[in-house]
Amino acid sequence: MPNDKRLAAEAAVAEVTPGLLVGLGTGSTVAYFIDALAARVRDGLAIRAVATSLASAERARAAGIAIDDFADVAHVDLIVDGADELDPHFYAIKGAGGALLREKIVAAASARMVVIADSSKQVAAIGAAKLPVEVIPFARAFVAARLAALGAATIQRDSLTDNGNLILDARFATFPEPRDLARALDATPGVMGHGLFLDEVDAAYVAQGGVVTRLER
Ligand code: 5RP
Repeated sequence: MPNDKRLAAEAAVAEVTPGLLVGLGTGSTVAYFIDALAARVRDGLAIRAVATSLASAERARAAGIAIDDFADVAHVDLIVDGADELDPHFYAIKGAGGALLREKIVAAASARMVVIADSSKQVAAIGAAKLPVEVIPFARAFVAARLAALGAATIQRDSLTDNGNLILDARFATFPEPRDLARALDATPGVMGHGLFLDEVDAAYVAQGGVVTRLER
């Protein structure tokens, strides 16, 4: 059986041209991307890179990709990242891997965002996946109550994020209109980030049964 995550990741390496500053997303699909990119780097491809998680930075460095400190970086050329759901509007839910806030920041700094995924992530409309919400610990009960008022049941993850915050995974009986939900979350003090990516994704490499399709927004 073909490994569709790996095939999508390897196809997306074609997006990386010499001289780019590349943002590395997080997750199992991105791990394949890092490995494939590292092979190109070893062959002489000159790029710079930043990472959206400690895990991706560690994997990249171990494979021979130098990682810049994003705190010193204002502009990224291209971010390649996974997704938990992606719909035909290029709306995505991200963050099952817990890196949603850094992923959102690096995506906002990036001229182009490319999602890599197997076809299990393609949906007609986002909303069946849990929506991760990163919350400053001080605001835990307050934000959970706000999410309940928005129609979500929440479960708190055991581990903290790379930023020292907690994650509430929100499940909605009926998923709200995504832009209304994003606005409500963005306006809630204590919410540091959420997994709704509505404007960021420019293109996607999606693999199904060994065949990779490139989708452009
Ligand atoms: C991490 C993410 C991941 O990109 C997303 O969860 C997809 O992961 P995977 O490639 O392992 O299926 O958003 O925060």
